[in-house]
Amino acid sequence: MTGKGLKKKKKGAEIITIDGPAGAGKSTVSKMLARRLNYMYLDTGAMYRAVALGVGQEGINPEDEADLERLCRTIKISFQGDSQNQKVILGGEDVTEKIREPEVGGMASRVSMKRQVREAMVKLQRKIGAKGKIVAEGRDTGTVVFPDAEYKFFLNAQPEERARRRYRELTVKELSLKMEDVKKEMIRRDEQDSSRELAPLRPAPDALLIDSTELTPEEVVENILQVMKKG
Ligand code: DC
Repeated sequence: MTGKGLKKKKKGAEIITIDGPAGAGKSTVSKMLARRLNYMYLDTGAMYRAVALGVGQEGINPEDEADLERLCRTIKISFQGDSQNQKVILGGEDVTEKIREPEVGGMASRVSMKRQVREAMVKLQRKIGAKGKIVAEGRDTGTVVFPDAEYKFFLNAQPEERARRRYRELTVKELSLKMEDVKKEMIRRDEQDSSRELAPLRPAPDALLIDSTELTPEEVVENILQVMKKG
């Protein structure tokens, strides 16, 4: 683990952020951590995926700023259930499965570059986070959404390993895919997420970097809990 060190502001963390690229293990680790601490799990990527789905359902051109703005003003995204069995609700519909389709991920990366979308989602994320005791997972939760979070982690892993994890995740759902294509798409999406002008994927200066290439999710969670224990 590396990093400039975490700032601890209060006794008992209210917000923990976990950022990083696809396949770094963020979701598994964040859910496990939320369960261990009995915190809420905030999946910010699911929110961008829900917007992407909304764009598709309403036949909106993602480059049309006025239409995007209107969608963001009216869209209703919420979460139900606990960290282990969380449902994503879009306008009353359970879209938990649908938002995991690879095309939705591609569109999510595209719409997440748009100012209107980011402003609307960050506002909603902060509203959810205001309740405290939350593990927030995403790309910019430590840099933009919750810059004052008590604990910030940036999870990464070697591209080969990340692609393997993504591939396993997708093929469990019986999607017929080629490993090479999964890797190419993952690298393309990382580049898009890292090079965008608004809230690019990068570690917060005060985040602790964890390389999960050779660690199990349980080991990563233990590392995080150790860091938190030390304060
Ligand atoms: O973590 P994920 O694969 O579910 O995220 C889908 C896309 O959403 C990702 O390509 C970039 C975007 N995203 C973002 O811009 N900011 C976040 N905090 C989380 C996700």
